[in-house]
Amino acid sequence: MSFPTKRPRRLRTRPALRRLVRETRIAPEDLIYPLFVRDAIDEPQPIASMPGHHQHTLESLTREAEAAIKVGVRSFVLFGIPAHKDAQGSDAWAEDGISQRALRQLRDAFGADALLIADLCLCEYTDHGHCGVLEGEIVANDQTLELYQRIAVAQAAAGADVIAPSGMMDGQVRAIRSALDREGFADRAILAYAAKYASAFYGPFREAAGSAPRFGDRRGYQMDPANAREAIREALLDVEEGADMVMVKPALAFLDVIRAVADATEVPVAAYNVSGEYAMVKAAAANGWIDERRVLREILLGIRRAGAQMILTYHAKQAAADIPCWDEMG
Ligand code: PBG
Repeated sequence: MSFPTKRPRRLRTRPALRRLVRETRIAPEDLIYPLFVRDAIDEPQPIASMPGHHQHTLESLTREAEAAIKVGVRSFVLFGIPAHKDAQGSDAWAEDGISQRALRQLRDAFGADALLIADLCLCEYTDHGHCGVLEGEIVANDQTLELYQRIAVAQAAAGADVIAPSGMMDGQVRAIRSALDREGFADRAILAYAAKYASAFYGPFREAAGSAPRFGDRRGYQMDPANAREAIREALLDVEEGADMVMVKPALAFLDVIRAVADATEVPVAAYNVSGEYAMVKAAAANGWIDERRVLREILLGIRRAGAQMILTYHAKQAAADIPCWDEMG
């Protein structure tokens, strides 16, 4: 009888042994917490499709960041929602634009305890909801780059440590890098949304940021979900243009892309566990259909196993508070 001489179950017999051989761990400092701040509101506005999240006032933004810092999350990515939108999205680079005010306020409140990442895009700021300047119904790539340069400089001047361009314009990383260097911000890093797909998983975000396009869609600039090799091309281009870190987004339907990008590059890789992914977990949990804590742990471990070193997630604060219990849950 050829009974197995190899018994993998031996390593699963006791909790201490399971912990010893555990390959992947998540720490609060691996998580990046996205927050929304909206101009000209008196009270934080709950976002219906993203339970637990709000469009924040400047005051409530600082309180939420503080609560996250208390549980060990130090990195934030900020999205601003202006009071007035126009065709160019001019609030995005205004010195007193909402995102710049929020950056300055968080920097004042937390100093070096907070890492401030500024999402750089125009869709929250334009009245048409596209990520750049329109020429007819097309987003004009090169004219948009000039605006991105202004935004990057304004965000850096307001205290952003990291600039994260998410508009998927060709050449955006090089344009931003050169503008930052020219204006004396050579020390600020770029986290490039390198492989950002045209995804239905952004649905709740567009409610949260009021950034749904008024006509058409983003398939003329964001990537086709059918393509993985193209993601490597995008990531390598961004690194060549000066990206310090690259991101894949969304995460869960694109774990293979995270792995491919991690293998193909030498820079840190981030994954964005996006609004629709958060909403699905929250909805199922609210119905009692899944155990949210365990599902969340598996999701974050899966993204890490795929090769992402850091994860942008709306669950960041909640996960970080729960992480001390995770070894027991495994
Ligand atoms: C801005 C931007 C989007 C997201 C991050 N930055 C929306 C979009 O491209 O429509 C999506 C984030 C999420 O769904 O959580 N361009």
